[in-house]
Amino acid sequence: MTRVLDVENLRVSFPDTGKNRVYPVDGVSLSLDRGETLALVGESGCGKSLTSLALLRLVPSPGRIEEGSAIRLGGTDVLALQGEALRKIRGRRIGMIFQDPMTSLNPVFTVGNQIAEGVRAHFDVSKSEAWQRALKLLEEVGIPDPAARLDSYPHQLSGGMRQRVMIAIALSAEPEILVADEPTTALDVTVQAQILEVLDRLRDSHGMAVLLITHDLGIVAGRADRVAVMYAGQIVEEAPTDRLFARPSHPYTQGLFASVPRITGPVGRLSPIGGSVPPPGAWPGGCRFRPRCPQAFEKSETMPPLLPVETDHRMRCWLAENGADASD
Ligand SMILES: Nc1ncnc2c1ncn2[C@@H]1O[C@H](COP(=O)(O)OP(=O)(O)OP(=O)(O)O)[C@@H](O)[C@H]1O
Ligand SMILES: [Mg+2]
Repeated sequence: MTRVLDVENLRVSFPDTGKNRVYPVDGVSLSLDRGETLALVGESGCGKSLTSLALLRLVPSPGRIEEGSAIRLGGTDVLALQGEALRKIRGRRIGMIFQDPMTSLNPVFTVGNQIAEGVRAHFDVSKSEAWQRALKLLEEVGIPDPAARLDSYPHQLSGGMRQRVMIAIALSAEPEILVADEPTTALDVTVQAQILEVLDRLRDSHGMAVLLITHDLGIVAGRADRVAVMYAGQIVEEAPTDRLFARPSHPYTQGLFASVPRITGPVGRLSPIGGSVPPPGAWPGGCRFRPRCPQAFEKSETMPPLLPVETDHRMRCWLAENGADASD
């Protein structure tokens, strides 16, 4: 296994309304091996997007990555990079696909132009070579009649086709890692499945590592090798996907599963976790899930570290100390 990304104790802060700072990403550690898909899952506001932006040093000002955080891309210390060296990792080492392609595509340039531009930003090739490469990329992401589509403008394409173009642009730099932040949330279910299949295929053919960010556990099964569940700025459970689905152990993860009707089956009732993720700055002391947790107990008043449940399976819950998970 070749490790391509190591994130340790990542903390991202913003100033609050007073003199203090809040930490929407608060000590996240994760890693990616070549060819692997890691799913980062959690409710809205838990810090998924900020985590992914931090990987590219794109945390918007006045946010900042705190001292003590580490992001390593192979042998490169991302947090030490500046200027040109930093720009080079964006796209080239880590490609990014966002939820809404319309905000990332330029409406006044054709699809072919934008992809060829992407190719030329990273490789020293002629215009016609870049154009050829753009054509090939459109084929790879499964766009019908790709030669004609090169001359289309973004508004002439459907949402699913635009998202395919975004993937083609991300691929144009041949990145080692592809970060897909809710890449299919805006699409209907059929198109969503097609786009995810494109991502799977490209991961396998290019050997990329994929960080798939989603609030939808339903798209994780059969796709991700491992899952990291995030709550209130922290990873609260991580495990190989099969294991997590067979035995979700953190009470929050169990709540997430209970709220997905497709997983609990057609007769399963939708039972969302009561309450919502508190905003950063309003987190309770101790375990941050405590106020919503049906299994909270005295010890939950102190913050649990990530504790082993089994080999490769850890959770941030004191129930792991009993040698059992919370479902026992
Ligand atoms: N530019 C910003 N300034 C201040 N706070 C921010 C900023 N961006 C994000 N936050 C806060 O950080 C927290 C995490 O945001 P983030 O966008 O990472 O969540 P998320 O898990 O991606 O949610 P979603 O599923 O809705 O995309 C949120 O509480 C959000 O309000
Ligand atoms: Mg987000």
